[in-house]
Amino acid sequence: MASKNSAVLVSPIAEEVLTGLSSQPRRLPPKLFYDAAGSRLFDQITETPEYYPTRTERAILKKYAGAIVEQAGNNLTLVELGAGSASKTQVLIEALLRRQLRADFYPVDVSSSALQGALATLNGHFPHLRISPIVADYTHRLPHLKSLSGRKLVLFIGSTIGNFEPEEAEQFLKSVRRSLNPGDAMLIGFDLIKNADVLHAAYNDAQGITAAFNKNVLARINRELNGGFDVDAFAHVAFWNARKSRIEMHLESLYEQTVWIQDLGRSFHFTKGERIHTENSYKFNLHSIKQLLRRSGFTLEMSWTDPKGWFAETLARV
Ligand code: AVJ
Repeated sequence: MASKNSAVLVSPIAEEVLTGLSSQPRRLPPKLFYDAAGSRLFDQITETPEYYPTRTERAILKKYAGAIVEQAGNNLTLVELGAGSASKTQVLIEALLRRQLRADFYPVDVSSSALQGALATLNGHFPHLRISPIVADYTHRLPHLKSLSGRKLVLFIGSTIGNFEPEEAEQFLKSVRRSLNPGDAMLIGFDLIKNADVLHAAYNDAQGITAAFNKNVLARINRELNGGFDVDAFAHVAFWNARKSRIEMHLESLYEQTVWIQDLGRSFHFTKGERIHTENSYKFNLHSIKQLLRRSGFTLEMSWTDPKGWFAETLARV
């Protein structure tokens, strides 16, 4: 028999889209980027010559994986928040399995397709890794970590921390800390403040992949909520906001237009030039990292960086 509660049939993104597009200024949360198509586009972004964060972080992990797991402690259980395809995690797992015979790995992500990919690759590479994927929106509700055995190392790499507002980042880290035990640790990847041209180029790649990634959120609304967005009627806008120490991404309406979204049962009017704010990507320095960790109750134990000082991998201890 059909459920009487039709709410269960509504896409899980309906509420966030309704709230965001009804706000002034309009906004959509960056986690909406990551459906299957968006996750693929993000993987392509990481391969553009302009987008330095992924390859810079990968180089740091490659160089220091041994030092990082050694510093984190013995008998580690790995948890990765926002694991995605977990491609950068492999080098840490390798280093870990050189120090201990077996390990448990709990990759957590909103995208089940990305987790499937992670599972397939890692299972093939690491027979001594027990992988338990968790499909969850960790920004909403953290998985229960307290009862996991062993010393936990929670990975929060990829500079995802930069997507939070400063206040949210602090609240989020506090909540992770509450779900850990004394001696557990968190490895956090921070993208660092650098030359504005380098930052600008990273979010305005010449092939237009970042533009497609940004616009995919509209295509996703079309797919999942029967929306009527003309994706070409919006422009990708990304710039460095030095005062707030962040890259901002927006979608700018090229014309005055009205967009009907069937499953929300309403339309949205956009003036020419009106923007939907889709992402902030905060950039840090050692001082702002220290301050954030201290406020969240963590101790900054160690930081590893690349020769140019573009990215930092930080070990925070409970
Ligand atoms: C996945 C949040 C690290 O902020 O650089 C890439 C996402 N946005 N290009 C970032 C992103 C546009 C990315 N993070």
